This record gives sequence, structure tokens and C-alpha cells, in this order.
Amino acid sequence: KNPVIISTDPGIDDAVAIAIATSDEALDVKLISPISGNVSLEKTTLNTQKLLTFFHKPIRIVPGSHKPLLRPAKDASGVHGKTGMDGYPFPEITTKVDDSVTAATAMHEIVSTSDQPVTLMGIGPLTDIALFIHQYPDDLANIKEVVLMGGSLGRGNFGVLSEFNFATDPEAAKIVFTSGLTIRVAPMEIGRQAKIMPTTSEKIKTLGRVGDMFYKLFSKYRGGSFKKGLNMYDALAVALVLKPELFEQVKTHVEIETTGRYTAGASLIDLKGYLDMPDNATVAVNVDTDKFEKWFVEEIGKTMS
Ligand code: BDR
Ligand code: CA
Repeated sequence: KNPVIISTDPGIDDAVAIAIATSDEALDVKLISPISGNVSLEKTTLNTQKLLTFFHKPIRIVPGSHKPLLRPAKDASGVHGKTGMDGYPFPEITTKVDDSVTAATAMHEIVSTSDQPVTLMGIGPLTDIALFIHQYPDDLANIKEVVLMGGSLGRGNFGVLSEFNFATDPEAAKIVFTSGLTIRVAPMEIGRQAKIMPTTSEKIKTLGRVGDMFYKLFSKYRGGSFKKGLNMYDALAVALVLKPELFEQVKTHVEIETTGRYTAGASLIDLKGYLDMPDNATVAVNVDTDKFEKWFVEEIGKTMS
């Protein structure tokens, strides 16, 4: 089993990613660290607790940062609803939160004692992963890879040229991309390619209590416009680990803009080599959408056991 740490801001697409990652037998999720992002840290923590209660998964939850390294917190509750996971009456929470250490220290505890290299999965702002990298440099040798959903090949979904996860904490994203770690990333456009269309949502609806739960969350995603298809952004990071063959992946240099007056957080994914810098990441530039949808439904099906 591949040991994994997830830094996340649930978030409806995060909820799906967490469900898949914690149910697939190839992965061993050691820690989930909620972070401020789509909604506040308090809410993303509650949402993580709700999900792990719902799925009966006693995974360690250590809350992370309540704001980015240098900038004020942002919010995407317009997309995910006021709670971050609107639409489903989750059962009373039974999972506990461990706030005896920071998220970075919890990551260190796991990575420094793991007998197998650990995968760090970042599906929210990168603040806590950056803090871990900065505070525990000796641990980096035991990181298998950092797998991210974030950045964009072209324009943005948060700024003109910037994607939400990177733009909320550009300095953190920069630390990650200059760390020397092996990085794989699914940018925004790939999330948009891999839309879950209404027929698929209807299939998911039939998948017992899990299907019912996700269908209800989906019906609130982006204010209820799920009929046009839903961007399952964060599930792509999980797919990159579990089903890399679904993607066309290219090694390239990724630069994170931190000083741009209007462009901070933009990811310059230098596919044409304009910057003449060494490769520091592998970027998904295409996904097989039919296979992705099929995989997605199968994985949601697995979460029922
Ligand atoms: C990313 O931003 C968040 O709203 C989603 O959860 C995803 O991680 C997409 O840009
Ligand atoms: Ca997210």
C-alpha cells in the first residue's frame, strides 16, 4: 500500500477525492489535514470529520493553517456553498480532531517514521505542505512524490491567469515547486476536461447511501448548475496516483508568479521552454475523459463497502 498524506479544503470535489483515496485498497491514507481554502479552517475541519464519520474511517485529522503564509484567506463558498459541503444532512460527528501538533509536524511524524516513501497529496492551498518542506528538510528524502491539483495551463478560475489553489497562497506554491521534490500536477483545464456529466451523476445517485450523499452535494455544487457537468478537479490528483495511464503527462518547468501585481499565483507551465529552466514537475496535459468517468463511477462504487 502506498502511504499518503492529504492536505485538503473540503469542498465538494475534495469530498469526492477523500472518499476515493480512503477507500481504494492501493492507498493507505495516514493523515488528513484540513486547511482554510474553499471555506474557513473551522468548516473544512468539520467537513473532514463529517466525511470520515460517514465513511467510518478512523484516519487521523490534524487541522492545518487558517490562512496563507503571507496573504489574507480567500474563500470559494460561492462554488461549494456556505458550509463548503452544502446539501446533505450528515450524521452526528463521531471522529475526533488532533490539534496537539501542527499539520506540518504531523506530516513530519509520519514521513520520518514511514518504512515506505510517502506521497503528499495537495488538493487545497499549499500552505501546510510548504511549511512542512521548510521546517523538516531532512524528511524530503522519504517523500515519494507530491501530487497536486492546481495551477492552469492558460487562463485562471480565480484570477485572470491564476487558479484557486495556487493563487490563494502563491508563496507556498513557490516553495513546493522549488523544493526539488518529484511533483506531478493536474492543472485546472484537466479538471474541466474530466467533467462529470448528468448521466454519470444519475448513475452515482443509484449507488446506495454514498451515491445519495454525493448526488445531493453535487446538486448544490456551483449553485446547482450540475446539469452542465461538474468539474471534479481534486479527484484528478487521486487519479494521477491510481490511474496514471488515463493521462498524457509532460515533464516541464513550472514557475509560480509571486510578485505580479495582477498575476500573483499564476503558474507558468513552460511547455515550450521559453524560460530555459530545468524541469521541476510533470504536468498532466490531457485526460481520457470517457475512461476517467468510468473509473470515477467505479471508485465511488468501491466507497460503499
Ligand atoms: C480547486 O479550487 C477549489 O475550489 C477546488 O476544491 C479545487 O481544489 C480548483 O481550482
Ligand atoms: Ca480543493
